[in-house]
Formats: sequence, C-alpha cells, structure tokens
Amino acid sequence: MKNTHLLGGLTPDQFLRRHWQKKPLLVRNAIPEMRALLAREDLFNLAAREDVESRLITNFRRQWKMQQGPLTSLPSITQKNWTLLVQGVNLHDDQADQLLHQFRFIPDCRLDDLMISYATDGGGVGAHVDSYDVFLLQAHGQRRWRISAQQDLRLRDDLPLKILRHFEPEQEFILNPGDMLYLPPQYAHEGVAVGECMTYSIGFRAPGWQELGEAFLAFMADAIELPGLYSDPALQSTRKPGAISDQMMNAVHRSLQKLASTTADREIFLGEYLSEPKHSVSFDRHPKPLGALQFYKAAARDGIRLHRKTRMLHRGIYIFMNGESYSPNASDRRILRKLADNRAIEAHHLAQASVDLRESLYRWYLDGWVDLQARRTIQKS
Ligand code: SIN
Ligand code: CO
Repeated sequence: MKNTHLLGGLTPDQFLRRHWQKKPLLVRNAIPEMRALLAREDLFNLAAREDVESRLITNFRRQWKMQQGPLTSLPSITQKNWTLLVQGVNLHDDQADQLLHQFRFIPDCRLDDLMISYATDGGGVGAHVDSYDVFLLQAHGQRRWRISAQQDLRLRDDLPLKILRHFEPEQEFILNPGDMLYLPPQYAHEGVAVGECMTYSIGFRAPGWQELGEAFLAFMADAIELPGLYSDPALQSTRKPGAISDQMMNAVHRSLQKLASTTADREIFLGEYLSEPKHSVSFDRHPKPLGALQFYKAAARDGIRLHRKTRMLHRGIYIFMNGESYSPNASDRRILRKLADNRAIEAHHLAQASVDLRESLYRWYLDGWVDLQARRTIQKS
C-alpha cells in the first residue's frame, strides 16, 4: 500500500516539480509510527565489519576528529558529542532495503544508499553541504536541524572533515521519529542530536561529469580495435629531422577518428557504469545451491527476486546487472525488464523464458545475485 504521508500530501510528481534539486521540504510524520529498524547494537556490529563503510566522528573538548571503520571499539554511550555513520545499510538488512522501496518513484540509477547515523546527545558532523539529494528521516530520538540557502560554501581547512567556514542558519526544526527533511544538493545544513538519536539518510547520487568521462574512456579503451600500424613508403628526406610531418599528423587524425563512439557504446557504458556495485560490495555465493533442474522447478513454482545488493537496470534492447550488460531476445527482455522494475518476478512470467535465460538465471542464483522468491510479496514500484 502506498504511504500518502511520505511527501506530506504531495504526489511524487508535485514533489519532483516543486522541491527535487530545488528547495527543502519538511514532512512531519512522513512515516507514521516510525521505529528504528536496527537496534543500536546491530548498527555497532555492522560498523565493526570489514565489508561495511563506517566513520566515527567525535567532538570532544571542542575538537573534531574522524576515524574510518571498521570500528571495533566505540566511545561509551554515556559520553556526549559523538556520532557513528554507517553507509549502505540497505545492502545488509532486508528491512532497510524495503524502506528504500518507498522512494522508487525516483529511478534506481539515482539511488546511492541508506546511511544510518547514531549519535549521543550533542553529536553531529558539523555544518556542511552534500553533493547528493538527501531525505533525512528521523528514526529514533530527536535531532535539531538548522539549514541555510547561503552561497558561501567555503570550508574550514584545519579539520579532518568538511565543515563550513561560516554557517548562517535561516531555519531550524526539531525532528521527531517519523519526521523527514528533504534537502537538495549543496544546501547548507547541520544536525545535532537532542539526546541519543538515530537518523536515516536516503541519499541519491548524480554522476559527476569528470568521473563519468574518465570511466567512459576506460570502457572505450577495452573495446578499441585499431589494427595495423603507421606506414610511410613514400617518405622523403628531411632537413628538419625534429619536426612531425603533416603526412604523419593527417594519418593519426584519420586513425583516431575511428575511435568515435556509437550510441550503442554509450548506452552499454552507462548501464554498466550505473549498475556497478560499490567497491565494498561482494556477493555471497549460494552456500547449498539447488541443482539446475531443481532450481528451474522451484522458480516455476515460486518465482524469483533480486538480492538486495543487486543493481539491475534496463535501457532499449539492453539489460544491465551488477556492471554487466546483456542483449536478450525480445521475449526474455520483457521478463527481465519486469524483474528490474519490480525487483521480483512471479512464476507464471518465467514460463516463456528461453533456455539461455534459464541458464543465466541459474548462474545468477549460484552467484547470489538472485534468489528464489519463497512467496514474498512482489513490491510494485
Ligand atoms: C547525520 O545523520 O548525522 C548526518 C547526515 C547529514 O547531514 O547528511
Ligand atoms: Co549532510
């Protein structure tokens, strides 16, 4: 069932038109009866893991310090002014993953992750801006947010974290569990825990052009095929042996023009790039997998679903999954697009799957990319 409170009575389209990438929105009671999905101890345990990104930020005796995880020891919960940030909680916890489904009116390729912060009284990360759109959902306790549309985004250069040199708050809100604050990128903000609190940041990334360009060149470098080598059978003697000739320059120009990318190159690149899991993500191979035939039988009965770590996208004739691209036939493509959009697929849709698709599904199952549906409800986007 859709939560009509989530955007404070706005439809997704109204929210996108009025607020997305434009201005903040405070929603009281966005998630009615919100309770923390993970207990404090669960979060501390995640922070101690090698495969989880975490940071500890302390502001003891007015001194900011930051320590990168894994964090096997933390300050006492009775000590004020510290906060623990745990990234990618949605990759490790089903309920956290389910929470993100409420935000699927925004395309998956814009989603970054769910970060959970735990703070003791007075804890926070200082006044800063993020390059991401973010929904700050209060999950436990209270946090005071102060925000500002200020243009001066210069940072202090004497600190291990990015804190604004000058912060001139224009609005202030105390968020209670279930309240949510949306902030567009580059909007100055500062959250301070009022007593112990937990805040969930649902962050949306936007690819940076430089990073995208560099990744594209690396992608093209893998695909490039320029056979042969430069030849100059008509070479004439020179009195300027240090000079590069027009003849050579023109030949290089003609050769490098062959490097121009096609629409297909750019589509495949983008899909692979956007569906690539973060570096810290690894999939667990199925510990006791079914044999291929048993798997097909079970899938035909129960359907399948994507593992919460799997990133799956589609565009045109292509399907992308965890950084790989596929161009299946039209009928398989219909099935796979449904799987990407719903993150699960009911058994009857699999009846038309080709042998190729069945084999791919089984391989993805062995690799831990998909699992049997086991009668879980399909989440419609
Ligand atoms: C926090 O939850 O403490 C930090 C979130 C943010 O400011 O982006
Ligand atoms: Co922030």
